[in-house]
Amino acid sequence: MSARLLDGTAVAAQIRAEVGPRVAAFAARARRPPGLGIVLVGDNPASETYIAGKVKAAAGVGLRIDLERLPATASLAQLLGIVERLNGSDVYDGILVQSPLPEAMGAGAERRVFDVIHPAKDVDGFHPINVGRLMQNRATLIACTPSGIMELLERSQIAIAGTRAVVIGRSDIVGKPTAILLLHRHATVTMCHSRTPDLPAIAREADLLVAAIGRPAFVTPAFIKGGATVVDVGITRLTDRAQVERIVGAGSKRLQDFERRGSVVIGDVHPSVAEVAGALTPVPGGVGPLTVAMLLKNTVTAAEERFKARGR
Ligand code: GUN
Repeated sequence: MSARLLDGTAVAAQIRAEVGPRVAAFAARARRPPGLGIVLVGDNPASETYIAGKVKAAAGVGLRIDLERLPATASLAQLLGIVERLNGSDVYDGILVQSPLPEAMGAGAERRVFDVIHPAKDVDGFHPINVGRLMQNRATLIACTPSGIMELLERSQIAIAGTRAVVIGRSDIVGKPTAILLLHRHATVTMCHSRTPDLPAIAREADLLVAAIGRPAFVTPAFIKGGATVVDVGITRLTDRAQVERIVGAGSKRLQDFERRGSVVIGDVHPSVAEVAGALTPVPGGVGPLTVAMLLKNTVTAAEERFKARGR
């Protein structure tokens, strides 16, 4: 058997097609487009790639998007100053400070920054107020990867209510919010992590398995109940040919991709899981495109809500 692949690229295109008219309607009412301010500190190559994708997608739906750059040597105070300026500016409805911040900014810098972004402009859904609202099932701004996973499942007609769901990974950004969203859709949810004893046995109970641990090809067929839906959130770029060949197999198309580019992105789910799962999100082309689409959706939602709140 070969799993049905859940096409994140197609679902992300649907969402962008829905966001476009909302952007146009907002721009007509407010006489300005919804605005997103992105702050990038340092020159992390992965962050540069993500930001380029976000800028292109935002421009494609008519959002205003401005990128502010700070050098890796910038201080936390400088960064907080930019966030405060964006908080106070009327042209920005959303603010995104790209993670990770340079280590030199110190432990806890990221949390300090995310806490300072105004909750109404927090298009990442990382602020404690928005996380609290998510817990109570009344959030308007939800972290983009978890909400993207839900869109992908729902628009692919994957049943959630009444299922047993297992989430591997307990990050604030993906694992925890995804588990809560599944719970709100009436799944019975188990959260697992690196210290869970006999992880494969628990994962095998899942009708719906979400892998968000950042360990390439960690989830093997031993974790899968036949026919289960498997959501792969991992995106690890591998450059070691022997490791890649061990995972993707000699003579595979993925190995040819590696030979051409010198690296390949591997998910948390081993490719052989496709033989036992019922449905699977591919990497790339599964969850990743949804994360960007949901950022656009959150930005227009933030703009609409801010406009409403002023009673105009
Ligand atoms: N770095 C990688 N993904 C994300 C994201 O969704 N938001 C932010 N702020 N940084 C990221």
